[in-house]
Amino acid sequence: MDNKIVDLKAQFEQELSNIQNLAELDGVRVAYLGKKGSVTDLLKGMKDLPNDQKKAFGQAVNELKGYVANKISEKTTELKELEIQKEIEAMPEFDISVPANLSRGSYHPITLVQRECENIFKSMGFTVEDYPEVVTDYECFEAVNVPKDHPARDMQDTYYLTNGQLLKSQTSAAQNAILRKYKDDLVNNGKPIRAIFPGRCFRNEATDACHENTFFQMEGVMVDKDISISNLIYFMKTMLSEVFQKDIKVRLRPGFFPFVEPGFELDISCLICGGEGCPSCKHSGWLELCPCGMIHPQVLREGGIDPEEYTGFAFGLGLTRLVMMKYGIKDIRDLNSGSLKAMAQFTDDE
Ligand code: FA5
Repeated sequence: MDNKIVDLKAQFEQELSNIQNLAELDGVRVAYLGKKGSVTDLLKGMKDLPNDQKKAFGQAVNELKGYVANKISEKTTELKELEIQKEIEAMPEFDISVPANLSRGSYHPITLVQRECENIFKSMGFTVEDYPEVVTDYECFEAVNVPKDHPARDMQDTYYLTNGQLLKSQTSAAQNAILRKYKDDLVNNGKPIRAIFPGRCFRNEATDACHENTFFQMEGVMVDKDISISNLIYFMKTMLSEVFQKDIKVRLRPGFFPFVEPGFELDISCLICGGEGCPSCKHSGWLELCPCGMIHPQVLREGGIDPEEYTGFAFGLGLTRLVMMKYGIKDIRDLNSGSLKAMAQFTDDE
């Protein structure tokens, strides 16, 4: 009987050495250790042995069973590693130094026009200021002469945070901080304040072809001795002719804003319809682009500047509308659409 065990072990070793893959190995496992397998058969035959041989035989078969299971487990690991190795060898070679074949991203048209405007004003001695989007009621309204309960508040509803702060409805929210930042240089060193501050604005209002709830403005201020409306008109004209690189029809009409006196609306003839009237200009042929005016004495005072000694102008350019006009975009909402296809048209070489 012992010979049977020795022979079976030798047979198993022979078969195991010929195994090429996991499927064949599983076949061998079933043939030896399965319910009807050769090792199981040996155990079944134990009942026919004399009692004094049963114990030793049982032990020997169990050893063989352990040996077979062990060898199969080792072979399984070996074959799995071999298969992974084969898969790796079959993979195409990668050259990690080759640049990815991805199309380049592009700047949003608002960014492009904003940078263009920044460069124009920088060339005229203006600094470019950054300002938060979340501001206080004081910054957005009270500091610019719009006290609580003033009727002008009805012109700009926005989004309020539970702590009383709000998303700024106009870049004028930065005026007070900018005046305060540069007032000492103005008073002590005679350096005029010249600053622009572009930024995202928010309004709780219905959207249409020329109104969004999230849009960009670019505010500008200049304060010095003897600043007048002529200075204001000069800077506005220069900015528009640089941006459009052609003559643009503009009109200046009176406009009311509590933070300027006198105040103006600067409109441009709609470049989408050529002034005929279309949804982009609310069928008027004109687009409100850049309200402006002489800074109200109260705003100067609140900024720490003596209005008896200094005057200044301020403007609030509708940057998103400027982008519409520059690129002939009929609907302002396209600019926030997130459509890469639409925006890719404006890619530049930067
Ligand atoms: C203001 O926001 C004033 N702070 C501008 C100002 C600054 C006046 C300094 C005087 C001195 P107004 O609400 O009109 O004004 O907005 C200014 C410009 O922002 C508009 O002419 C328009 O071009 C743009 N604008 C306003 N609301 C929207 C909107 N919902 N969607 C897109 N553009 C808008």
